[in-house]
Amino acid sequence: MPPDNSQSPARAAITGVATYVPDRIVTNAELATRLDTSDEWITTRTGIRERHIGAPGETTSTMGAEAVRRLLAARGLGSGDIDALIVATVTPDMMFPATACLIQDQVGLRKTWGFDLSAACSGFLYAVTTGAQLVASGAQRRVIVVGADLMSAIIDPDDRTTAVLFGDGAGAVLLEAADPEFGLLDFHHVVDGSGRDDLLMPAGGSLHPASHETVSRREHFLKQNGRVVFKFAVTRMAESIETLLQRNRLGAADIAMVIPHQANQRILDATAERLGLPSERMASVIGRYGNTTAATLPLALDDVVRTGRVRRGDLVVFTAVGAGFTVGASLFRWQ
Ligand code: ACO
Repeated sequence: MPPDNSQSPARAAITGVATYVPDRIVTNAELATRLDTSDEWITTRTGIRERHIGAPGETTSTMGAEAVRRLLAARGLGSGDIDALIVATVTPDMMFPATACLIQDQVGLRKTWGFDLSAACSGFLYAVTTGAQLVASGAQRRVIVVGADLMSAIIDPDDRTTAVLFGDGAGAVLLEAADPEFGLLDFHHVVDGSGRDDLLMPAGGSLHPASHETVSRREHFLKQNGRVVFKFAVTRMAESIETLLQRNRLGAADIAMVIPHQANQRILDATAERLGLPSERMASVIGRYGNTTAATLPLALDDVVRTGRVRRGDLVVFTAVGAGFTVGASLFRWQ
């Protein structure tokens, strides 16, 4: 059921977006000099041409902090103007404290509370939905949501099946009260923990604390069953969107832009085909950034906003599938 907004019509809108990616670009050709792979394999199987990789000293918090600084500058806001900060990441600087605390300190945000949210590639989607409730309830006026991941910290550089897929980056959005009829209209989110063994970082948590053995077994790196994740993503992203469209009595033709998690161009193409959506209405930046986990949605959003492909009044759908599995979609009338 869509949320009953008859009593409380207040909604939150995304009123600003900013991003940061590290300067260093690693091309497929460069990866092919040290891995048994090729530009041709990576491009045809994934659509990825290059990715940005953090410099020594760059972390998830430093990237996220720069995205937040750029967002504040773009919106002309000061360090005391933000009520809450939610950071979606699977590569926090440390297990604790939360990366939200580190970003708050680096940017010098005053009067801000915040926390990290762990939902892998769906993290940004879930964090925006969460932050939007804080704004829609009237509890907070301005909430920043950051999606940031330094995937190079947890990718096995010698594993060609994963090393070619991921990149580093960060994005931030501002959530504020929407104009009537605008903002977050509906969301559909589901988790399915039966996928826990198909995409994971096995060690470093309470199940397998760090030890010489976990390091020698390379268990502090991301592992995935690529084919299972691929199939799950293709089916479930489309299903999430269809659920949202049906219960809001909309068709694919009503959607101006779908902003999907960027894991593989073939997943985006298959999802567009299932929905009957022309490819130009499926945002794609994977060629330039690879899979940056929680940062893919704000990087793709920033691209469509900058290139004028979403306008006030447009219906925009965000969708993601991530480790867990975590799945979902959300529907906005763009403000
Ligand atoms: N270069 C060359 N060959 C490779 C490479 C590479 N980088 N990687 C794998 N191969 C080989 C394999 O070893 C295999 O060889 P074999 O047939 O001799 O065994 C062959 O290519 C085919 O491998 P597949 O795994 O079947 O290739 P597939 O077409 O499925 O593509 C991929 C693999 C790109 C990983 C795909 O399955 C995929 O994108 N899966 C989804 C991954 C994903 O989205 N992950 C992130 C999810 S989001 C999150 O929460 C982080």
